[in-house]
Amino acid sequence: MLVTGNDILIPARAGQYGVGSFNTNNMEITQAIIHTAERLRSPVMVQMSEGAIKYGGQDLANIVIDLAKRATVPVALHLDHGSSYESALKAIKMGFTSVMIDASHHGFEDNVKETKRVVEAAHAMGISVESELGRLGGIEEHIVVDEKDAFLTDPEEAVQFIEQTGTDYLAIAIGTSHGAFKGKGRPYIDHARIEKIASLTGIPLVAHGSSGVPQEIVERFRAAGGQIGEAAGIADEDLQRATQFGIAKVNVDTDLRLASTVGIREALTANPKEFDPRKIFGPARDVMSQVIEHKMRVLGSVGKA
Ligand code: G3H
Ligand code: 13P
Ligand code: ZN
Repeated sequence: MLVTGNDILIPARAGQYGVGSFNTNNMEITQAIIHTAERLRSPVMVQMSEGAIKYGGQDLANIVIDLAKRATVPVALHLDHGSSYESALKAIKMGFTSVMIDASHHGFEDNVKETKRVVEAAHAMGISVESELGRLGGIEEHIVVDEKDAFLTDPEEAVQFIEQTGTDYLAIAIGTSHGAFKGKGRPYIDHARIEKIASLTGIPLVAHGSSGVPQEIVERFRAAGGQIGEAAGIADEDLQRATQFGIAKVNVDTDLRLASTVGIREALTANPKEFDPRKIFGPARDVMSQVIEHKMRVLGSVGKA
């Protein structure tokens, strides 16, 4: 069933588990996400960035909405990194049930102002809202505390921000970053900060940049001719602990990008004479499903729907 973000994330926060919010850009990705969620009885969020909307538009949104409506588990369609009030409103008109307004690059006051505007409009239409406070980016473990504080979300500010905006869930900067290169070795994630923010606030918290960049997938990517440097993601144990401390929405894009490309590369290499797209995109869908299943097990959302 198609539900709002709040319908999925409030129980997750209360139950101390995480729900994956996976980026989609086509039918196969959407199927992998929603069909895996159904198989594992897991709630799930499917998100489209502004880039995905530019690429797939209403056609892609309709694929997600149709699969979500027919699904036997709760599914929300979420706007990832909405850059303006207009963008959030456009997504709501397209049928999204959850939107992010990302005004985190502005100062605190302007972030509050822009977020509040979106919250008021979205709530009037029954849609829930994610916003962001702090600056996302890889943080090296050895950086001194003062410097970390300049980037990562300040717990007291988070309390003020939530009070002043009425946001439904909040993305916090805790050391994670987007992409396949999140730091050397085991990327840093500030669990104490999550715990502190969760203890002062009641709403679901969101972690962006939460791909695990599984080394097995990276090795398969290389073996199939792909070129990639020293890739590293968030360790499974670190993400699991984050959900126990209050992270309820967990954003994943990079892992599916890698998985789909592995499936395509392996299929093309194994069968050089093949030109039936189903024999190429089908394997990509299968590898994505395996990666999604692993993530849902790590997050503890399996069996919650
Ligand atoms: O956080 C960004 C997501 O990975 C979406 O990326 O804007 O290239 O679609 P995109
Ligand atoms: P990853 O690059 O770690 O998959 O993060 C995706 C994300 O945060 C989308 O908003
Ligand atoms: Zn993000």
